[in-house]
Amino acid sequence: MDTAPGQPYLGPMGIDPNILAPEGWHAALAALEWQMDLGVTEITGEDPVDRYALPDSLKPTPAVAKAAPTGPPPLADPVAVARHLAATCDSLDALRQAITGFDLCELKRGAKSTVFADGNPSARVLVLGEAPGRDEDVEGRPFVGRAGQLLDRMFAAIGLSRTSPDPATALYITNVMPWRPPQNRDPSPEEIAMMRPFVERHIELVDPAVIVVMGNTPCQCLLGSKGILRLRGNWAQALGRPVLPMTHPAYLLRNPSAKREAWADLLSLKGRLR
Ligand code: URA
Repeated sequence: MDTAPGQPYLGPMGIDPNILAPEGWHAALAALEWQMDLGVTEITGEDPVDRYALPDSLKPTPAVAKAAPTGPPPLADPVAVARHLAATCDSLDALRQAITGFDLCELKRGAKSTVFADGNPSARVLVLGEAPGRDEDVEGRPFVGRAGQLLDRMFAAIGLSRTSPDPATALYITNVMPWRPPQNRDPSPEEIAMMRPFVERHIELVDPAVIVVMGNTPCQCLLGSKGILRLRGNWAQALGRPVLPMTHPAYLLRNPSAKREAWADLLSLKGRLR
């Protein structure tokens, strides 16, 4: 018991036990006032107290609690963001930068490169593919793998090349998706929709006379429908220009018998360019 010499013993709460005597209430009052001076605001009770619970005055009313969002905060609409960004681009360099900085497409996270385009921007023919594969992701250029080599041979057969400096015989090549999808899966409709404003701006800036869409993804993007085996060879119209759907060279590698139809489509293109 720690009691200073000459001082009365105070109980564990600092209260003189004598206050229990009826005549001791003055002493009790003085002891309480002394404790309040020390900062004591409440006595220890029998019931547990949740000191983390909000006081009633700070609790949301039921109506407010209902209106409060329950999930994560809403994200920016990727299509609206893409549309806004694309509209601000007045050159291919600006567009490349805008796409490289666009972070709302999940595919970007898994990709090594942003694959923008290759070839001659003055070309009369723009080829629109689907998305980079492994080789394109590594090299950062579209259509450089096996399918790309076949594409080069196909167009060379009608006198067009991505390396030609002459707009009349040049090709400009790009894809709907600038990032490689995991396991080369097809891009989802949402992914296609969010890149569409960039694709449209890309086409406006290059201003080709003719667009060749290779595979389902660019058909979906520019023509609004899939079904390349039905659409191929049938000239369509998008962004005020003629569009020729063709089977993708990767499909032709797997189905060599379809090359005959692809050759017919190339001749149709050659005829249109004359
Ligand atoms: N397939 C495509 O559609 N684009 C590429 O760049 C490569 C393969």
